[in-house]
Amino acid sequence: MSSTTPWWRSAVIYQVYIRSFADGNGDGVGDIAGLRSRLPYLKSLGVDALWINPWYQSPMADGGYDVADFRAIDPLFGTVADAEQLIEEAHRHQIRVIPDIVPNHTSDQHVWFQAALAAGSGSPERERYVFRPGRGPDGAEPPNNWVSCFGGPAWTRLPDGEWYLHLYAPEQPDLNWQHPDVHAEFESILRFWFSRGVDGFRIDVAHGLVKDPELPDLRPEPADEGTARGHVEHPHWDRDEVHDIYRAWRKVAHEFPGDRAFVAEAWADTPERLAAYVRPGGLHTAFNFDFLMASWNAKDLRTVIDDSLAMLSAVGAPATWVLSNHDVMRHTSRYARQTVARWVPNERYQPEGPVDLELGTRRARAAAMLMLALPGGAYIYQGDELGLPEVEDLPETVLQDPFWERSGHTDRGRDGCRVPIPWSGTTAPFGFSPEDTSAEPWLPQPANWGEHSVQTQTGDETSMLELYRTALRLRRGNPALGDGSMTWLDAPAGVLAFRRDPGFVCVVNLSGEPYRLPDHTSILLSSGPVEDGLLATDHAVWLAV
Ligand code: NOJ
Repeated sequence: MSSTTPWWRSAVIYQVYIRSFADGNGDGVGDIAGLRSRLPYLKSLGVDALWINPWYQSPMADGGYDVADFRAIDPLFGTVADAEQLIEEAHRHQIRVIPDIVPNHTSDQHVWFQAALAAGSGSPERERYVFRPGRGPDGAEPPNNWVSCFGGPAWTRLPDGEWYLHLYAPEQPDLNWQHPDVHAEFESILRFWFSRGVDGFRIDVAHGLVKDPELPDLRPEPADEGTARGHVEHPHWDRDEVHDIYRAWRKVAHEFPGDRAFVAEAWADTPERLAAYVRPGGLHTAFNFDFLMASWNAKDLRTVIDDSLAMLSAVGAPATWVLSNHDVMRHTSRYARQTVARWVPNERYQPEGPVDLELGTRRARAAAMLMLALPGGAYIYQGDELGLPEVEDLPETVLQDPFWERSGHTDRGRDGCRVPIPWSGTTAPFGFSPEDTSAEPWLPQPANWGEHSVQTQTGDETSMLELYRTALRLRRGNPALGDGSMTWLDAPAGVLAFRRDPGFVCVVNLSGEPYRLPDHTSILLSSGPVEDGLLATDHAVWLAV
C-alpha cells in the first residue's frame, strides 16, 4: 500500500457503542469523558479510526438512532465542547473520528416533527415527513402494507386521523427526501460536524431514504420477503434515486480539507447493488454485510470474498470487512454453534444448537485473522478484541431494545451485544464506571465478565486482545496488507489460502483435517499452536513467504 493511498481504503475502524464503552461520570452509561480516558487503550490496540454510534440529543427510544437535535450532544454523553475535545485528542493520537448520521428519520421529539404535529393535516410542515390519510372506511386502515423493521405496521395514526410513516419505531418518523428542506438541512448538519473536525460519517440506513412517491403496497406480502436473492425494485429499499443524495454529500465533503470519508450502512440484494453506492462521485465505502452473514464454511466465505472484491474493484472502491456490530449477535457466539448457517437477508438471526464458546472463540480468532488479511478496510466492534460473547440470558425485565416490545416479546432484540465492556477487576462494573460509583451499568454484566477484561487479557500472549494487538501491529507494518489485491493459492476443500504481495500468505483451515502449511520463511502470527507444520481445524496463520 503506498503512503499516498487515502486512509479509508485500508483503515481499521473501531466501532464505539458509546453508551457501553466507558462511563466517565459514574451514571452507569458510557459517555464522551469515558471514551476520552480510553484513547490510550485504542492507540495501543492500533486502530486507525473510531466510528461512534449516535451521540446526538435523543429521547433514546432506539439507543440514540432517534435524533431530536443533530447539532447537540445528548447530556447523557456530554456536550458539543466535549465532542470537539475528543476529536482533537483522538487526532493527537493519530486516530480519526467518524460519527453516525441518521438521515432516514428523526425522533418524534425533533422540532420539525413537533411543528408538523402542531400544524395539522395539509400543512407545509407535514410535507417534510410522510403523512397520508388512511385507507378503508374512515381511513382506519394504514395507507399501505409496509412493515416496521422492528415489527408491526410502519404507520401510526394521529388523533387527527392522519397516519405517518416510520420504517423503524413510531418514535422515528421517516423524513421525506423529496423535500428540498431535508436535503438542505442534512448538508448543513454535515458542514456543522465537518467544521468541528470529524473525518467522515457512517450513514445509517443509507439504502432507505428515497421512497416510491406512490407508496405502493409491498408485493409479495411482507411475510414472503427476504427469501429471494436478486434485485426486484422495492418501494422503499435501495432505490436508484438515493445515489443523487450521496453525490451531493460527496461534494460537501470536498469543501473541507483532508480526506473526509463516508461509509454507507446499505443492505443491498447483490454485490452489484452494493457497489453502486461507492461508484466514482458517490460514497467512499460501504459495509459489506455479506461477509458477516456468511456461514463458517470455506466455500461460502470464498464466494463472498470473490464476489465482493470483483464488484467493488470494478468501480474502483475498496472492500470493507466486518464480523459484528451493535445490531447482530456477537460472532464469538454465532460461531459457537457447530453448524453456522448462512444468514437469510432481512431476517433476524436465530441460531440453533448448543453453545460451545471454546469453539466460537477458536473460530473468532481465525476469522479476525482472515478479515485483517483481506484487501481493504476492516471494522472491529468494541469487545470483538476481547472475544466477548453475546449475553444471551439477559433478564427480560432489563431488555430495552424496541425489538422486544414491538415483537410482542418474541424477539429479545439486540441488547445482548450491547452489554458494557469489562475493563478490569472481578466484580461489576468491571472498571466500566469509576470506582466509587453506585450507579449500576445500564445493562447488567455477567458475573464472569472479568475473565474477558482488558486487564485480564493484557500481557497474556494467548488472549484475544493480544492476538488483535499483534495482528494490527503486523498489518500496519506490512506493505502487503490493507488496500490492494490477493491471489488464491491451491488448497484442499475447506482450506482458504491466499497470497498478498510482497511475500505474505494467509491460511485458514475450515476443514475437518489438519492442513500442512505451504513453504514459508517464517510464521508471523497464528491463532493457535502450529505443531509439525500442521494447521489444526478452525485455525489461521499468517506466513512470510
Ligand atoms: C441501523 C442501526 O444500526 C440500528 O441500530 C438502528 O436501530 C436502525 N438503523 C434505525 O436507525
